[in-house]
Amino acid sequence: MRENLVKDNIVITSALPYANGEIHLGHIVSTYLPADILSRFFRLSGKNVVFTCASDDFGTPILLQSEKQNITPQKYVEYWKERDLKDFTDLGIMFDDFQNTSSEKNIELTQYFFNQIHNNELIYKKEINQLYCNTDEKYLPDRYVLGTCPYCNEDNQYSDGCEKCGRAFNHSEVLKPRCAICQNQPVLKSSIHYFFKLSALSNKLKSWLDNNDNLQKDVKNYVIRWIEDGLNDWDITRDITWGVKIPLEEADGKVLYGWFDNHICYISTTINYLESKGINGKEFWNNSTIYHFIGKDIVYHHYLFLTAMRLALNEEYKLPDYIPTRGHLMLQGEKFSKSRGMYIGLRDFLNDFPADYLRYYLTRITPYDQSDVNFDWDDFQVKINNELVASIGNFIHRALSFTNSKYSNTIPEPKEYDKDDQELIELIQESKNKVRENIENNQVDRAMKNILDLSDGCNRYFQKKEPWKGNSENTIYLSINAVHSLGILLQPFMPHSTEKLFKSMNIEEKTVNWNNCGELYIKSNHKINKPEILFKKIEDKEISEQKEKLK
Ligand code: 2FM
Ligand code: ZN
Repeated sequence: MRENLVKDNIVITSALPYANGEIHLGHIVSTYLPADILSRFFRLSGKNVVFTCASDDFGTPILLQSEKQNITPQKYVEYWKERDLKDFTDLGIMFDDFQNTSSEKNIELTQYFFNQIHNNELIYKKEINQLYCNTDEKYLPDRYVLGTCPYCNEDNQYSDGCEKCGRAFNHSEVLKPRCAICQNQPVLKSSIHYFFKLSALSNKLKSWLDNNDNLQKDVKNYVIRWIEDGLNDWDITRDITWGVKIPLEEADGKVLYGWFDNHICYISTTINYLESKGINGKEFWNNSTIYHFIGKDIVYHHYLFLTAMRLALNEEYKLPDYIPTRGHLMLQGEKFSKSRGMYIGLRDFLNDFPADYLRYYLTRITPYDQSDVNFDWDDFQVKINNELVASIGNFIHRALSFTNSKYSNTIPEPKEYDKDDQELIELIQESKNKVRENIENNQVDRAMKNILDLSDGCNRYFQKKEPWKGNSENTIYLSINAVHSLGILLQPFMPHSTEKLFKSMNIEEKTVNWNNCGELYIKSNHKINKPEILFKKIEDKEISEQKEKLK
C-alpha cells in the first residue's frame, strides 16, 4: 500500500460547518455533495483518498448559544457535531473522518502554527481600541457588532466581513457600529491584540495565485484585485474565553479568532486519521493533490488567510491544489433564508424523499462556477420523473425484468454483433471517457448529463432491437452489461441506488471498480437476482405539499 500512497494520494476536505445549527440544502450544494462525488470517483478509480471534515466549534455565536441553554460550550458543540454527522451520513456523504476544531490535536497544531509564524516574525502585537458595550459590559467581537461595510457601504453587516461584497475586515473598520445584543452604540476601549502580517505576504500570495492553473479563473481574478488594492494585516485575537488560547504567557488567556484555527483542522483531522491507519500523515499530506471545497462566501478566508498561513510556515504543510468554489442556493427563485421561511433543512428533506433524489437533482443543476443555483420544486419533479425515472430507471428496469421473465435471470450467450450492438458498445466507452473527464475537471453537472445521455441511448437501442419479438440474446447480454456500466458511472452520484442495483445484479459491490465500466464484465450464465424498482415517480400532491410548507 505504501508504494501506491506517494503516487496517487488525494486529500479532499469540505468547509467545516459551525457546530451551531442544522445542515441545510445551501450547505450541501456547494460544499459537501461535489466533494463527496469526487472522493467516491477517485476511490472507485483506485486512488488513495482521504475525505475529511469537522465541526467548527469556536467563536462568539456558539458561546452565546451555550450560555443561553445553560450548558458548557463543549456539550453544545458535541450535540451539533453528532447531529450534523448523522444528517451527512444519511445523505451518503462518506467522510473518512469527522473531527472537531476544539479537539486536543487541533489545538496543538494551531498553537504550533501560531508559534512558528510568531518565530518567523509575521505576528506582532498592538494596542488597539476595541468595540465595547457598556450596557452588556463586554468586548464585542465579530457577530456582536453590526454596521456598514467600509468597502461597498452595505448596511447590516457583521464587523468581520461583508456578505454583499465578500471582503473580510477588522472590526475597527466597520462603519456606524452598533451592539447586536442591545443595539446601543459601543464605545472604544483599549486592548492588546495580535496581528498576522498578511500584507507582508502579498507578493507570495500573488505569485501562488498566478502560478496555480487549477484555480477557477474568475475567483482568482478578484482575489488578485484584492491583493492589488492592498491587504490589511489581520487581527487574530478575540477577547472571549471559548477559543484556542494564544500560547504566550503575556497573552493573558486571550484566544485566537476561529478563522485562525478552523482550517488547520483540515490538516489535523487528515493527518490523525492517516496515523490511526499506520500511515505517515504529514508525508501523505505533502505528497498529495489537495482539494478544499467551499462556498463563495468564504473565498477570502481560503484564498488568502489559509494560504498565507501555510506560506508563513514556509510550506511545511502543502498548499491546496484546488479550492473548488460554488455559488449560493436560491429557493423558488428567492434568497434561501430560514427567517423568511424560504428554507429546506436536510433532515426535513430526507424525511420526505430518498437521499439520491436530492443528490441527482442538485448535481444536475449545480455548475462549476460562482453563479447561484435555484432549487425549484417543479423542476425537481420534472427532473426526477422525466430523467431519473423515465430514462435511467426505465432502462435498468427493462433490462433486468426482461432477463428475469424471458431468461429466468440467467444472462444469455451473445451471437455475432450487428451494427446497433457495436454502436452501443462504443457509446458506453465514449460516455465513460466523457464522465471521467468531466468529474476530473469538477464539472459534475456535465458528467451527470453524460450519464443521462447514455441511458437515453440505451433506451433507444432496446426499443429498436425489439427483444420481445425474439432473437434477443445480444440485446439482453449487452443491455445487462450497459446496466452494469451505468451502475459504475452512477455510483459516485447515487450510492444508495447503486448499492441496491448491484445487489439485484448479484454483484459484490466491493469488487466494483471504474475500469470495469465499458468492459462487458458480466459474462453469459451469470445469474442475477429478482429486480427491484429503483426510482419512483413523484406525485403532484407531494410537490404541492412542499410548496405549501414555504408559505
Ligand atoms: O463559514 C463557515 O461556515 C465556516 N464554519 C467554514 C469554516 S471552513 C474552514 F475551516 F476553513
Ligand atoms: Zn461590502
